[in-house]
Amino acid sequence: MAEPYSLTGKHVLITGAGSGIGRLMALGAARRGATQLVLWDLNLPAAKAVAKEVEALGASALAMSVDVSKKAPVTTAAAKVFDKVGHLDVLINNAGVVTGKHFLDLDEKDVSLTYAVNTFALYWTIQAFLPSMLARDSGRLVTIASAAGLAGSSRLTDYSGSKHAAVGFMESLRAELRDAGSGVSALTVNPFYINTGMFDGVKSGSPLLPIQDQDDATAKILDAVESTKRELLLPGMVYSVRVFRLLPTALFDWIADAFGINKAMKTFRGRRT
Ligand SMILES: NC(=O)c1ccc[n+]([C@@H]2O[C@H](COP(=O)([O-])OP(=O)(O)OC[C@H]3O[C@@H](n4cnc5c(N)ncnc54)[C@H](O)[C@@H]3O)[C@@H](O)[C@H]2O)c1
Repeated sequence: MAEPYSLTGKHVLITGAGSGIGRLMALGAARRGATQLVLWDLNLPAAKAVAKEVEALGASALAMSVDVSKKAPVTTAAAKVFDKVGHLDVLINNAGVVTGKHFLDLDEKDVSLTYAVNTFALYWTIQAFLPSMLARDSGRLVTIASAAGLAGSSRLTDYSGSKHAAVGFMESLRAELRDAGSGVSALTVNPFYINTGMFDGVKSGSPLLPIQDQDDATAKILDAVESTKRELLLPGMVYSVRVFRLLPTALFDWIADAFGINKAMKTFRGRRT
């Protein structure tokens, strides 16, 4: 994509739009001129409440109850989206879950759900919307992965594994789109902890890696959506992971410990709803 992307006049679908940065991205996209927001969430009342906020900003909103972890409901819901709003310009895969459990405490349901929402959902949503984007030779595919998709951490074996998979998935998809000479572009976002409540209780182990404010993080993500960027790491310090990876693994592990990466999850409570 040679030109920066503008959200003005665009149709934008966000998964997990009922809460956290999903909700904030919906409101931000409406403020930046998107004309149609499609808000998918398991929690329909929450998505409907966000739809009202979006409409108050002058954009149209369609709230839908969709479980993105399964292919069939995603395919059915996508057909309704085409029926009601015509086409989609931007797909933001944002829905995510975390258990925060130690490895030996994870049961089969925990691991399956984490991968189904954080990884497999990307296959189902993008398979549903990419063909129409390819036909128009235009569109932006955005995945909110995680800094845990670049570096592992204690109590995140399921989450970090699923986010590493999401990062690899997006890199491969980007390669396929490039190979096909497509005008559809892809952006992977890898944020460190954000104060949405999803990781409630987590404490930063270093002033160099502060817990991010959800409004600031959302503004930076939307700036990246409206750019030619292929990846966004938040905050900037996360880019150093790539440099530290060049070091011997024992040294990389020592640096991660020095940054308090493993201590951060010790106080994790998660979202209590
Ligand atoms: N908060 C952080 O510290 C942080 C850091 C890095 C990455 N992320 C990622 O950012 C994304 C958004 O996180 P958040 O902090 O806003 O979380 P959040 O918990 O506030 O929002 C997640 C939303 O996803 C929805 N959801 C969960 N399972 C779903 C399913 N099967 N189908 C449809 N919707 C579903 C939830 O109902 C919720 O509204 C997630 O992918 C998360 O992994 C968050």
